[in-house]
Amino acid sequence: MKKLGRVYLVGAGPGDPDLLTVKAARIISKADVVVFDRLVSAEILALVPKTTRMIPVGKAPKCHPLPQREINRILIHEAAEGRTVARLKGGDPFIFGRGSEEARALAAAGLCVENVPGITAAQGCSATTGVPLTHRGLATGVRYVTGHCRHDRPLDLDWEGLADPDTTLVIYMGAANIAQIASRLADSGLTPKTPVLAVNNATTPSERHLVSDLATIAKDAAAAEFSGPVLFIVGRVVHLYAAVPQCTLPTCFVPFPAHQVDAHV
Ligand SMILES: C[S@@+](CC[C@H](N)C(=O)[O-])C[C@H]1O[C@@H](n2cnc3c(N)ncnc32)[C@H](O)[C@@H]1O
Repeated sequence: MKKLGRVYLVGAGPGDPDLLTVKAARIISKADVVVFDRLVSAEILALVPKTTRMIPVGKAPKCHPLPQREINRILIHEAAEGRTVARLKGGDPFIFGRGSEEARALAAAGLCVENVPGITAAQGCSATTGVPLTHRGLATGVRYVTGHCRHDRPLDLDWEGLADPDTTLVIYMGAANIAQIASRLADSGLTPKTPVLAVNNATTPSERHLVSDLATIAKDAAAAEFSGPVLFIVGRVVHLYAAVPQCTLPTCFVPFPAHQVDAHV
């Protein structure tokens, strides 16, 4: 009987290859096939041995060249042929990464899956900007929230529940809907002066930061003309931006001056 392969669902982190886990680096160096997403950085892909087969399955916003069922089919086919597959995803596979859908499809096909966590964009952005996601006196908790609904349906979030000044909101995939997100949060009770940090291409050489607030983030983000992924951090912790100088600041950053970051600390 043919020996089945195995699929590793591997988190590649936010971009910086030094943020790969040791386990992720070992798996991508030994896999027979690497099936990778659009947000996996070129520097990380360069770590894959030249002899390894590479299959791009990247999805871009509003452009899904490969439907999820086709990605599942590729993973099942490769593993059923006895190969070791590294399914490489940006950040962490289980945070807005559809890793659990792929794991379920593989398990249903009788295949073995191992999950390898990665550093999610929220953690990468927090570390590189020096903005903590919780801080005594500023935020007692943090919520990771999607800023985009499937099939581009209108965002239907629990705005009242999200508008809690003691909680940091981290908004993934929110660039296209930031005007709506900001106004709904303000309408639901957050002060329009609530600070917002946008981080673009975090942990890569093209990283950029923008400090704004709920009232002006939509206008400021549009003017910034970001290219590449953007994450928004909303809440009082953003007052700590630049409070502690970062030793690893990228050379290209801060397109706009930070608003009064010391005043509220
Ligand atoms: C489909 S989600 C994937 C999230 C990923 N699984 C993770 O754990 O980070 C894509 C969103 O993650 C955020 N993101 C991913 N990488 C990023 C980066 N390097 N800088 C800023 N935001 C990033 C952006 O909000 C982007 O729209």
